[in-house]
Amino acid sequence: MRTITWNDEKQTIEMIDQRILPREFEILSYDDYAGVADAIRSMVIRGAPAIGAAAAYGMAMAGYQSGATTSETLLTDLQDAADFLNQARPTAVNLSWAVRRMLAAAEAFEGTTDELRGHLLRLAKDIADEDVEINKRLATYGAELIEDGDHIVHHCNTGALATVDWGTALGVIRMAHEQGKRIHVFVDETRPRLQGARLTAWELDQYGIPYDIITDGSSGYLMRTGQVQKVVFGADRVAANGDVANKIGTYMLALAAYDNGIPAYSVLPVSTIDFDLPRGDLIPIEERDGDEVLGLTLMGELVAPENATARNFAFDVTPNRLISGWVTEKGVIYPPFDVNMQAAMKG
Ligand code: MRU
Repeated sequence: MRTITWNDEKQTIEMIDQRILPREFEILSYDDYAGVADAIRSMVIRGAPAIGAAAAYGMAMAGYQSGATTSETLLTDLQDAADFLNQARPTAVNLSWAVRRMLAAAEAFEGTTDELRGHLLRLAKDIADEDVEINKRLATYGAELIEDGDHIVHHCNTGALATVDWGTALGVIRMAHEQGKRIHVFVDETRPRLQGARLTAWELDQYGIPYDIITDGSSGYLMRTGQVQKVVFGADRVAANGDVANKIGTYMLALAAYDNGIPAYSVLPVSTIDFDLPRGDLIPIEERDGDEVLGLTLMGELVAPENATARNFAFDVTPNRLISGWVTEKGVIYPPFDVNMQAAMKG
């Protein structure tokens, strides 16, 4: 199953609609880059690596949408598309990383405009394929950290759905399971979009991995009572000092893990590292519509009073001192992250 694909016959981008899973499995088709940006914004597709792949395909689509007959005008149209796609969501750096990679390839290309269009599509497909390969590689490193019998807290959804396929933190769990390790996953439900309760639980069902969904505040209790051996989560953007922006609630999860001496790993492809950003407090944090919080119903009725207001931060930043290690496709990187990351990048 791939979260996103390019349909060669129809020249469309196809995505699993993640807003309605697990009740319905539907594929949506897009034939313009503005639609792709909207799919990212409305979370038809979500998860940092999947957003990156969507942006790459969106750039390829922009090439085909443009009627330009000269490289110069095609590049101008691509720059417009890049600006538009970059606005879709602010926190996951994979988006601007993929857009930048596509633009750089376009600028360096020598050939006709039609050849450039084909070149961009091939690169978008390569970015998607690379993502799957990278995830399997980092999952193999990460699985070494997992022991038979581990009970693991997992936050948000970092599985196949959050990537092109396979997944990052959930990919580590999946790899360890395939190696025959007996694992139990505590799935943070992940308010307000419930990526854990909906998407991670759905994926774990497919893989046959035992799990329990827990409310977001439960993990501290489980850790304190000795019921958890590891904590794993993904990353949307990592600053050069090793601070990690990830789904809201990750900071509190990492704090509880630290207080209880439980290893907490952030699992990420190196494309999630923003080397230009020295510290985590500089990472832009998306604030979404409060209606996502206020829409909660209980017994068919809205929970909050009619005139209630809400703040809806989609991400938080976990300081590097709370993170035991990063699992990347270059291997597991331990603190001090700023130093060891440079060494790993050279390897
Ligand atoms: O708002 P989302 O669902 O896009 O947030 C996703 C996360 O925070 C994931 O943990 C992160 O993107 C890593 S996914 C491999």
